[in-house]
Amino acid sequence: MQPENSTIEIQLNHRTIREFTGEPVSEEDFAQLMAVARATASSRGLQQTSIIRITDQAIKDEMAEIATQAYMARAPELLVIVADTHRTQEIAKEQGVAEPFGGSMNCFMEAVTDSALMAQNIVVAAESLGLGTNYFGNVLNDVARVIRLLGLPDLTFPIVGLSLGHPAQEPQLKPRMEMSLRVMENGYREPDSWSAELAEYDEVMRTYYDLREGGKPSDTFTKQTADKLRVENPLRTRMMRVAAAQGFDFALQG
Ligand SMILES: Cc1cc2nc3c(=O)[nH]c(=O)nc-3n(C[C@H](O)[C@H](O)[C@H](O)COP(=O)(O)O)c2cc1C
Repeated sequence: MQPENSTIEIQLNHRTIREFTGEPVSEEDFAQLMAVARATASSRGLQQTSIIRITDQAIKDEMAEIATQAYMARAPELLVIVADTHRTQEIAKEQGVAEPFGGSMNCFMEAVTDSALMAQNIVVAAESLGLGTNYFGNVLNDVARVIRLLGLPDLTFPIVGLSLGHPAQEPQLKPRMEMSLRVMENGYREPDSWSAELAEYDEVMRTYYDLREGGKPSDTFTKQTADKLRVENPLRTRMMRVAAAQGFDFALQG
């Protein structure tokens, strides 16, 4: 598809960058990115996201260990995007609300959504500045340890890590499935067989050389999907228990 403008061109050219040159992200660029983060829409305007900017190499190293991704430690900039209803709660208390609902499922979901939106806003802006980015969902590998490491108070929960820097690699665009399989009119629709519908995409995926896997040709998408769902990190499975320990009430009873 021909991009209509430079924003769309950047978005259509998105690819994750996992290796960066040694050149730091300039403070001007970083300030622009934080201005964009600040301008992001937020649920009820409550701005329930915080960013931990990790500049201490020892903390980066430990984050990389938790994530089991060595390249995380090499990131010139490493951010952790945090769902934060702690601030909301403290403000409400200071304003005299006796038992504020900052730990509610409602506030939690708002903060999670807001955090994802802020992260993606930073990504688009960073790419427009010629920077590369890498999300790290692997901060959830051991979320309790991340919480301790970063000193996150009650009613906060790390959502995703994000590295930024000047790209030192030029990965291929990673193929995506057709949107006809993902856009459904007036309700959920699914084919008799996803594997059959995805056969063509599976073949295209084989032409993708994944730098993350040492530049080997990719498995088919359906095989990757099966492999990823065959096993689960037990700590990740239990991450909502950590969220509950942080003070969030999922109201599953009563
Ligand atoms: C929420 C989220 C978490 C991710 N976590 C990781 C991660 O822990 N490590 C990593 O190397 N890439 C991570 N990625 C990047 C994805 O692997 C990547 O976006 C996907 O394979 C598509 O490739 P592309 O971004 O190059 O188009 C994550 C992406 C998202 C959106």
